[in-house]
Amino acid sequence: MGRRAARDVTEAQAESILNAVLDAGINYIDTSIDYGLSEERIGRYIAHRRAEFYLASKCGCLVGATPAPPGQRNAHVFTRENIVKGVEQSLARMKTDYLDVVQFHASPSKETLEEHGALDALLELKEAGKVRFVGISATLPHLSDHIATSVFDVFQIPYSAVEREHEAAIGAAAEAGAGIVVRGGAAKGGPSEEKRSGWQWDRWRLAQLDDLLAGISPMEFILRFTFTNPDLDTTIVGTVNPAHLQSNLDAVQQGPLPPDLYDEAKRRLAAAGSEPRSARQRSTARTEPANPRRYCGRCAEFLSEERGLSKEDDHASGRRLCVGHRDGNDDGVGERRLCPRCQAQGAQGHRPRAGCPGRAALHARSLEGLRAKSLFRSISRGGG
Ligand SMILES: NC(=O)c1ccc[n+]([C@@H]2O[C@H](COP(=O)([O-])OP(=O)(O)OC[C@H]3O[C@@H](n4cnc5c(N)ncnc54)[C@H](OP(=O)(O)O)[C@@H]3O)[C@@H](O)[C@H]2O)c1
Repeated sequence: MGRRAARDVTEAQAESILNAVLDAGINYIDTSIDYGLSEERIGRYIAHRRAEFYLASKCGCLVGATPAPPGQRNAHVFTRENIVKGVEQSLARMKTDYLDVVQFHASPSKETLEEHGALDALLELKEAGKVRFVGISATLPHLSDHIATSVFDVFQIPYSAVEREHEAAIGAAAEAGAGIVVRGGAAKGGPSEEKRSGWQWDRWRLAQLDDLLAGISPMEFILRFTFTNPDLDTTIVGTVNPAHLQSNLDAVQQGPLPPDLYDEAKRRLAAAGSEPRSARQRSTARTEPANPRRYCGRCAEFLSEERGLSKEDDHASGRRLCVGHRDGNDDGVGERRLCPRCQAQGAQGHRPRAGCPGRAALHARSLEGLRAKSLFRSISRGGG
């Protein structure tokens, strides 16, 4: 795992927790080339249950590198060759012939991804069927550019009650039609009674939330706060502790936080420094009726005048419709316009747009899994 020291996890522990996760109904596993023995263990212990989970890994991690020493990060190399090698290695390690999601690791810039063909390589792997959805683990400032390109099906973004800096960016990415995977959504366990450590604990203390909790434990609050964010599709919570896994599942079963508690907590957290960056721009965009980000009310085509996709209100239905569906056109033209590059079956340089069927599918499936029962989880550190 990137910046932190690997933890000692025995083979027996890894087998047990991976299977416990699936037995509990969790259906999304996030890992990385960089996470020590994680990919091999997924292959070893749950490859036979592959149909039960969506599998997400990363790319850009240097293939063949030895794990970085504690406190340091492995290098990332965004060349066509390293991306292809990395995906092939992940497939082999995890004994699968497809990855549901592959995310560029370490938030590279748009230019870095384009310079040596890394982005094109991943899109071609998608067209070849080895990767189903293309994603990026991204943070500001690069995240804004990535949302604007509309290339990515899914974003992995850090977020929790005590780390709300990306809240507005998460909203913008969701509004653009991408799937949202939150990492760090358990605030690394910092506010838990047993840990009480790290900057997460410092912010928790500063926000003075304890008198709001009314019997809710800090970890239950943290997890439910993350989960209450309406823009999130899933949260990948890391744990090697079966008791934590169970208490986290119990917390999520409690559902979103009550609105008054959520609002007051946000106010206190903002006062303690946990607040969205660019919140002002986000709220302006939300109330601005001329916002170009809209979807056809019939086929979910992404409507943007900037992209030359004209849009018109359908006065009969009150919905916005794409050119294929306006004027009462119901001859299927709109369906053909739904991500025409996807329909073109793998044309070179394909850049799926928000609103294409692939994105909608990821979104809907994630919601279906998470809202009902899923707390996303990965075995992200391995040693031993
Ligand atoms: N893309 C990236 O650059 C990147 C970076 C970091 C992480 N990730 C991904 O995101 C996942 C989660 O991120 P993360 O591990 O940084 O953050 P996290 O899920 O917020 O925190 C995980 C930590 O919280 C602790 N924890 C979980 N439940 C707990 C509970 N009920 N009580 C007390 N402590 C609890 C875990 O310790 P125990 O094991 O003791 O429960 C672990 O140390 C990773 O596994 C990885 O897949 C991606």
